[in-house]
Amino acid sequence: MTAHTYAYEDPILTLNGVSITLNNEQILRDINAQVLNVTRPNMSQGQVVGFYGRSGIGKSVLCRIMAGLIAPGTGTVEVGLAQQPVTPGMVGFVQQRYPLFDHRTLHDNLLVAAQRKHAPADARQHVDAYLERFGLAPHRRKYPALLSGGQRQRAAIAQQLLCSDHLILLDEPFSGLDVAMIDEVKRIIVEVTTMDELNTVIIVSHDIVTTTALADRLWLLGYEHDAAGALVPGATISPQHQYNLAEMGLAWHENVEAEPEFAQFVEHIKNEIRGS
Ligand SMILES: Nc1ncnc2c1ncn2[C@@H]1O[C@H](COP(=O)(O)OP(=O)(O)OP(=O)(O)O)[C@@H](O)[C@H]1O
Ligand SMILES: [Mg+2]
Repeated sequence: MTAHTYAYEDPILTLNGVSITLNNEQILRDINAQVLNVTRPNMSQGQVVGFYGRSGIGKSVLCRIMAGLIAPGTGTVEVGLAQQPVTPGMVGFVQQRYPLFDHRTLHDNLLVAAQRKHAPADARQHVDAYLERFGLAPHRRKYPALLSGGQRQRAAIAQQLLCSDHLILLDEPFSGLDVAMIDEVKRIIVEVTTMDELNTVIIVSHDIVTTTALADRLWLLGYEHDAAGALVPGATISPQHQYNLAEMGLAWHENVEAEPEFAQFVEHIKNEIRGS
């Protein structure tokens, strides 16, 4: 087990008292959580948050709130060093099913995204660079229907990186991928988060081992019980379910999956999820 030297600076994402009720059902309750810019000597170290919770508990709903696509009933989401209230387009969001425009080629799909942030000539250059980096250049003229699941996945990640600032949400990025493709998406995530100090990726996943290995912070969305032992409606991320993997000496290890402390921690997390 190796602990790396690191420090924390300004907040990049702040969730303040976020609650939401949908169809008269309280889904999320009073969520308070923050991602700080983590720095390491002589490198650009972005942030990776693993975000877990039982199926149907509200992870995708919270993603939509963090992306500014739906407003919480109460509470605020602030993003970036300026800590501005989130609005649509500020945060990249690769949804559980990654939508691309079916009537545009892969290249043109990415160009539409890039032009939201860059001038036309720059946009083309960025698209070419991302097509190369994500191994998609040979498929640039294909329409989305002709792409494999993994290719669509990488295209959707590239698309969000091209048009958003530093924060990107990946909802279930590993589901439906083969082992080689999972390794590839893992590499892309590491690359994205070491490309720029401020780049921050939040990964929603049921693949606890893969995601924990990439993360420096974990959030676990679950229910709490009141003093009488009754379940409190609305899921939340309680302080004891916000884990700092850097502090635990489990962040940024090349082959952390092989370490006994990692295996023990993953077991602990799985038990917490089962009990939540
Ligand atoms: N627009 C909506 N209107 C009403 N209820 C909704 C809406 N969207 C989601 N829900 C409900 O909110 C709850 C949380 O859904 P959500 O999709 O966030 O779960 P999840 O944690 O992402 O689950 P999974 O791991 O299966 O993807 C579910 O009970 C769902 O039915
Ligand atoms: Mg979901």
